Amino acid sequence: MGASPPPPPPFSVVFMFVLVLCIMGSSSTSAQLSTNFYSKSCPKVFSTVKSTVQSAVSKERRMGASLVRLFFHDCFVNGCDGSILLDDTSSFKGEKTAGPNNNSVRGFNVVDDIKAKVEKVCPGVVSCADILAIAARDSVVILGGPDWDVKLGRRDSKTASFSAANSGVIPPPTSTLSQLINRFQAKGLSAKDMVALSGAHTIGKARCIIFRARIYNETNIDSSFAKARQSSCPRTSGSGDNNLAPLDVVTPNSFDTNYFQNLLNQKGLLHSDQILFNGGSTDSLVKTYSSHTKTFYSDFVTAMIKMGDITPLTGSSGEIRKNCRRPN
Ligand code: HEM
Ligand SMILES: *[C@@H]1O[C@H](CO)[C@@H](O)[C@H](O)[C@H]1NC(C)=O
Ligand SMILES: *[C@@H]1O[C@H](CO)[C@@H](O)[C@H](O)[C@H]1NC(C)=O
Repeated sequence: MGASPPPPPPFSVVFMFVLVLCIMGSSSTSAQLSTNFYSKSCPKVFSTVKSTVQSAVSKERRMGASLVRLFFHDCFVNGCDGSILLDDTSSFKGEKTAGPNNNSVRGFNVVDDIKAKVEKVCPGVVSCADILAIAARDSVVILGGPDWDVKLGRRDSKTASFSAANSGVIPPPTSTLSQLINRFQAKGLSAKDMVALSGAHTIGKARCIIFRARIYNETNIDSSFAKARQSSCPRTSGSGDNNLAPLDVVTPNSFDTNYFQNLLNQKGLLHSDQILFNGGSTDSLVKTYSSHTKTFYSDFVTAMIKMGDITPLTGSSGEIRKNCRRPN
């Protein structure tokens, strides 16, 4: 009996409401990924992935670059869901043979190798999408770049989309600066994220067919650099299309700031590289990154984590593939 309890003060109602909104908001933007996702279910996942990446990169330094790019191309097409890893079949055309990927993305055998080893230590637990995220981080570290904690808990798609991969969501190297900015903005990434992530072109290689027009026809290019590149990339299309050149002419296998220094010297290999330092809005950022390793590294890490948050499958969506090349 006695007095009934006082009504809750209005501020607590408001507080609860805000709290609920915050929880909803955070779950829709960064999903439920967490750095300790496998700490109970597969504590050996990190050492298993790292040792396999390490031996692959020791065999071929470029493989580190190829693994970083796989993660980018996975995340930009329907989110980081391992979709790029699915093989085409007679009745299914996936992302592997889409324009930005066909004869270009590589590293699938290394992913298979990692997956097989991870399946041995924790069967059916770790997704192919998360393997891509960890392998990308390990590659950057092994090639001398920054380290970070990778957010995990992505699940694998049961399908992939040839048409989505061809739709321009992965911007072509002929893009203008505003096209590059818009394509990244469409994925929730800023112009700053875009420039920092382009710094991944401090490692790896590109084909003659991709940079031919730049080295023969563009004027914002160092002439001795253009000549050197022309010597292994003939003007006539068809011949030498697959000849390779390093994206960073100075230190092609080190994750450093030379990519940005090259841009200051008009030695960007791709049109989409040099456009980042061509009198436009991103010039000052390129200048900063060229001489401030720590700033580049910390912005790169921030952007890699943001990229890894792009619409993952979580909870009971998708599946944990047994073989990264096909749905279960
Ligand atoms: C800004 C827009 C971007 C464009 C237009 C672009 C375009 C390209 C092209 C055309 C190639 C060479 C492909 C070939 O010759 O077959 C390439 C290679 C590469 N890209 Fe990008 N890229 C972009 C952003 C990124 C991002 C965000 C990353 C990763 C964070 C990345 C990582 C790489 C790496 C590491 C390579 C070398 C791969 C290897 O050697 O196997 N790129 N990129
Ligand atoms: C992918 O490349 C192969 C080999 O060059 C070619 O035969 C095939 O037509 C290409 N696929 C698509 C979808 O363009
Ligand atoms: C250079 O530009 C000219 C004129 O637009 C074009 O005909 C030619 O095919 C281009 N060359 C290369 C290698 O892209």
